[in-house]
Amino acid sequence: MIAEALLYAATLPTTLKEHRKYIRYSVNLWSRAGRCSRQWAEHEANSRSAILKAMAGLRQKRTAVVLGSGLLRDVPIRELAAAFDTVVLIDLVHVASVRLRMKAKAYRNVRLIERDLSGYDDLAAGKVAEPLSFLRNVPYLDFVVSANLLSQIGRGVQRRFEAAPAGMPDDTVEQLIAAHLSGLSGMPFKTCLLTDISYAVIDRNGATQEEVDLLHGVPLPDAQAGWSWPVVPIGEESADYQIVHRVIASH
Ligand SMILES: C[S@@+](CC[C@H](N)C(=O)[O-])C[C@H]1O[C@@H](n2cnc3c(N)ncnc32)[C@H](O)[C@@H]1O
Repeated sequence: MIAEALLYAATLPTTLKEHRKYIRYSVNLWSRAGRCSRQWAEHEANSRSAILKAMAGLRQKRTAVVLGSGLLRDVPIRELAAAFDTVVLIDLVHVASVRLRMKAKAYRNVRLIERDLSGYDDLAAGKVAEPLSFLRNVPYLDFVVSANLLSQIGRGVQRRFEAAPAGMPDDTVEQLIAAHLSGLSGMPFKTCLLTDISYAVIDRNGATQEEVDLLHGVPLPDAQAGWSWPVVPIGEESADYQIVHRVIASH
């Protein structure tokens, strides 16, 4: 609890006012990732390996953008910073420990940007949501990674929608998930989409009690790899169940 409070306090002053309400989610993620590091290790290694595979064939490595860079646990930041001229990390919040780490000499070419990648505000303003259209203006962009972000966009959008649905389309969540996917497709740069697509609540006997589609039925591009991520291992929330997410990599 003390470590979480310190991380929260250190992150507060460097975070945009309108994003401060999201710091607690990043700190919670940091806390759970620390507690579950052994059970999450394979998922994180698979994610890093998919990104490395996706960038291996690039002819030019000028600028790379990582969407949902978060704690940089599933992002091979050392390799990205060494290979590309510039690496841009985008998230709602960059916690203080990540900011501090990026001050090292090896990361001099890494930029941190705080940005809401959901497109919710555009949709609320009656505009067409194109949350990734800014990528077209990034100079010399060769590679874009969506790093286990999409399901979190879906969850955040659903929370906002349920709190104030008036004036929003009924299919707000589906529209914004689809907008992220279409923002990554048909672009003149290489992309690597990593996302959890569903989760299952599994009891102590191994029986699946519930399965949920995290992407609300929105069609996905073909995947080159897939694996399980025990986000909530037995004992984390309860001794009686675990929650296992299904993750895909598409590049
Ligand atoms: C499961 S974490 C991804 C883990 C991260 N790639 C890592 O290596 O630690 C999801 C990330 O998406 C970010 N996120 C969620 N909704 C977002 C949004 N609307 N815009 C930008 N980032 C968002 C969260 O802040 C969080 O860092």
